[in-house]
Amino acid sequence: MATKSNDVETSALGLDDIHETLIEIAYKAGDIITGALPATNGAGSKKNSADLVTEYDRAVEKMISTTLAEKYPHYKFHGEETYDPAHPLTDDPTFIVDPIDGTVNFVHSFPCACVSLGFAVKRIPVVGVVFNPFNQTLYSAVRGRGAFMNRTTRLPLKGESLEPLSGLSNALISVEWGSERCGKNWDTKLRTFARLGQTKDNGGAMVRSMRSMGSAALNLCAAAAGTIDLYWEGGCWEWDVCAGWVILTEAGGIIVDGNPGNWQASLEGRRYLAARASPQAIGQKDIVEEFWSHIEGRLEY
Ligand code: IPD
Ligand code: CA
Repeated sequence: MATKSNDVETSALGLDDIHETLIEIAYKAGDIITGALPATNGAGSKKNSADLVTEYDRAVEKMISTTLAEKYPHYKFHGEETYDPAHPLTDDPTFIVDPIDGTVNFVHSFPCACVSLGFAVKRIPVVGVVFNPFNQTLYSAVRGRGAFMNRTTRLPLKGESLEPLSGLSNALISVEWGSERCGKNWDTKLRTFARLGQTKDNGGAMVRSMRSMGSAALNLCAAAAGTIDLYWEGGCWEWDVCAGWVILTEAGGIIVDGNPGNWQASLEGRRYLAARASPQAIGQKDIVEEFWSHIEGRLEY
């Protein structure tokens, strides 16, 4: 079926075929990931000891890029482990891939990691496949066609019974520590976390609680499923969010800038605030504005 949305024409791109291919690749990647035996002290550091890469990240990315190059030689590839700052993302149809999102979890055998396979056109995510092989959960979406868990369960999980969003004090939210552990962004995160958790009498939002899944893609999928209400992060990259972005927005969620004021997040913006769906969008904008009002400082990347 042809899909024309207001900003990107996708009918000639074969999105269904790409969706099926990405699902096949995700299962293959899952076998590599679950068959691996990473050592907690054997992972290589990129920027520091919280920013890791293993031989498995590289092997999975190689398998993915080789398979995609054979099947779709005309589309570009943008993967975390082969990213070269001299070749940033363009408007061309591009696969945007994180071979293992949640590498710290993977290294520690904490079962919350996934392969994240996105496809974007004009920097707009249009196909997304996220697979956590540890619990065999597949999330996928094609722009304009809805989002699904394990191919058949439509997201959000509660469907028509989903409750409206009703403010931060009733919300379970996800935040991430990230790997940058000093400076202005670190300070902004810590002060914001404190305010989000604090009682209202003390100027806080008193959120129900905060979670850190250790994977941007799985945070976005949890918001798509409706099992968390909001997800805020600064510092992650387009390969962390591209696939989850389609899954979230197809499930009725929204993704806005992680700094206050901008309702349209940019794929490469490295600052994101995602909110789950809400019936008739009730409370969706309100909760975003409430969250923005509790950010202490600004995220700068
Ligand atoms: C990381 C995860 C984590 C987020 C970091 C990302 P990686 O990706 O998505 O949740 O906090 O910003 O870099 O390193 O596991 O692919
Ligand atoms: Ca990764």
